[in-house]
Amino acid sequence: MGKLVDWIDERIPMSKTMKIHVTEYPAPKNFNVWYIFGSLAMLVLVNQILTGIWLTMNYVPTADGAFRSVEYIMRDVEFGWLLRYMHSTGASAFFVVVYLHMFRGMMYGSYQKPRELIWIFGMLIFLVLMAEAFMGYLLPWGQMSYWGAQVIISLFGAIPWIGDDLTLWIRGDYVISGATLNRFFALHVIALPLVLVILVFLHIVALHEVGSNNPEGISIKKKKNSVPDEEKPKFKFHHRFTSKYDIVDAIPFYPYYVVKDIFWVGIFLFFFSYVIFFNPAMGGFFLEPPNFEAANPLKTPEHIAPVWYFTPFYAILRAVPDKLMGVLLMFGAIVFLFLLPWLDRSKVRSIRYRSTFHKVNLTVFVISFIVLGYLGVKPVTEVYTFLARLFTFLYFAFFILLWFYSKNEKTKPVPERITK
Ligand code: HEM
Repeated sequence: MGKLVDWIDERIPMSKTMKIHVTEYPAPKNFNVWYIFGSLAMLVLVNQILTGIWLTMNYVPTADGAFRSVEYIMRDVEFGWLLRYMHSTGASAFFVVVYLHMFRGMMYGSYQKPRELIWIFGMLIFLVLMAEAFMGYLLPWGQMSYWGAQVIISLFGAIPWIGDDLTLWIRGDYVISGATLNRFFALHVIALPLVLVILVFLHIVALHEVGSNNPEGISIKKKKNSVPDEEKPKFKFHHRFTSKYDIVDAIPFYPYYVVKDIFWVGIFLFFFSYVIFFNPAMGGFFLEPPNFEAANPLKTPEHIAPVWYFTPFYAILRAVPDKLMGVLLMFGAIVFLFLLPWLDRSKVRSIRYRSTFHKVNLTVFVISFIVLGYLGVKPVTEVYTFLARLFTFLYFAFFILLWFYSKNEKTKPVPERITK
């Protein structure tokens, strides 16, 4: 075995890479449960790719064949039902995990300098993930697939001058048709997953270049020779880290966090399996009832709503009477998230040491996001529209207020070292 490893190491830096990124990688010693979602997101990504490959073996990407092929997978393909439910539940699980992962970043100021690029890559992942989910949703060619895509693609029509041509170009036809289905299939199955995997790779490269933040928001790197030997951790870290800095309050990623992540993977799989085996439609939230009926271009469903993970943005869109303004505001909701590293000018990262005002602001933001998500699945009424406007206002207020108060925010003193 040793000889094989040597043989490989002489040709590619396998052991060195493992040491730098796993066994001798210093991770802050105080990661809490919020830090598991990155690993879980990777797990779900692998699940989506693997189950996706196997679904593709029996799926037929044509307007005539799509719905029937999905029924065939569900009824006749060995364990086809399991593959499909793992994939459909995986899509929702992806967003649950990614939303919690993003919230962790917001709580602990993980997007602040020097981690802006980790955040930007993360946001690009989020965008591509939304496109990936949207295109995947058309593939079963159910009623909601068809009409949901109809609503979303028509939004591009609101763009002045090029709107009509653009929607035509996206659909590849005057209506949503087999041509649309075919290209969405190509993008969903290869193009976007490839981009996702590359972005996740870059996300981790950026993370490992600067190192993880932690719930205290304090750096584990101190100026060289500024820490007495007895206060340094007793672990062996790669000299890549120790040659430039004194590393303090860190433990190696392996075995400590590998074991911790595996434990949480077990807990995650418990809930994941519950949905797959006992509640795959999740009350209509993961698989919407109209989608059990084949797409019918002549019959609009009574009430069109996207899947739950899009509904906060959908509610913002619907809150505005003008279509173009609604589209702009919906995109604005994502643009503001991109800009977070520059909107937050606080010197302190973690919520633990920030002002009460900031805590209230972030809480109101989360409540607004959840309420908007709820409103997005509900039919439009006067009261709901009023609420959607109110919470859209609060959603944007978070970012604007943050920019104003964060510069001179009254923060608590931050300790030098990690003690909790
Ligand atoms: C496929 C989706 C994603 C995967 C597989 C992924 C993976 C990871 C992993 C493994 C980590 C290190 C472990 C951890 O801190 O949890 C991490 C950290 C991080 N991710 Fe992601 N991520 C994804 C999406 C996102 C998104 C959408 C954002 C935000 C826009 C984001 C922002 C961050 C930040 C800021 C960190 C550093 C956290 C810290 O050090 O405190 N990630 N990601």
